[in-house]
Amino acid sequence: MRPLIVGNWKMHGLSSQLADIRALAAALKTRSTQAEVLICPPATLIERAARAADGVVAIGGQCCHHALSGAFTGELSAEMLRDAGASCVIVGHSERRQQHGETDALVAAQARAAVRAGLLPLICVGETQAQRAAGQSMAVCGEQLAHSVPADKAGAALVIAYEPLWAIGSGRLPSADEISNMHAHLRQCLLARLGLAGEAVRILYGGSVTPGNVRHILALPNVGGVLVGGASLPAADFEAIVRSTDH
Ligand code: PGA
Repeated sequence: MRPLIVGNWKMHGLSSQLADIRALAAALKTRSTQAEVLICPPATLIERAARAADGVVAIGGQCCHHALSGAFTGELSAEMLRDAGASCVIVGHSERRQQHGETDALVAAQARAAVRAGLLPLICVGETQAQRAAGQSMAVCGEQLAHSVPADKAGAALVIAYEPLWAIGSGRLPSADEISNMHAHLRQCLLARLGLAGEAVRILYGGSVTPGNVRHILALPNVGGVLVGGASLPAADFEAIVRSTDH
């Protein structure tokens, strides 16, 4: 399966940054890449980003509400993201889990809403530094996965991202063994949850991915791509990460 390279812009990006998406799309049209590329800009840019991406780069949301519509001031439904031009949505990012109190059950409901709207849900899991120090990484991430992944979803219709919280924005990276062991564990959890369909789910790594370390990460077993925050903002860095999948 083609590696999936995702840029999560978080709360960054104004109209002027659309030029970066336009330039990346043009570059990929001129010289195609092995990777599937997805950019998740702030919701205010989704519609214009989808136009700028010109069908070459997919555009996604960073979160969605689980309801179809209703009296939820400030929220966006999965249908609205889809209507604006998104094909995917991140759910359960640790910043949402921590800053907005999103639980596994809520994340599962959001993932179901995404699928209902025709969006690919990208479900994030990851342990804190304290949980890691206590030797609980595998148990924590396995639990999150078991409760955040809707049981009835076919494998190809969702993506998992392993993002250790202590690696996000810190410049610190788990060792190759730590990533491989965690991804192997998440694969087993997916097989237990989804049966054979769990084999087809891409498991991304996220947390301090840079043009300098991405090759080494993508070469690890059970790593189907990367979720990139900080390094997805400078256009040259993100393109270098995308191009790292070409030989
Ligand atoms: P980072 O963020 O690449 O800046 O560490 C990753 C993420 O939070 O998705």
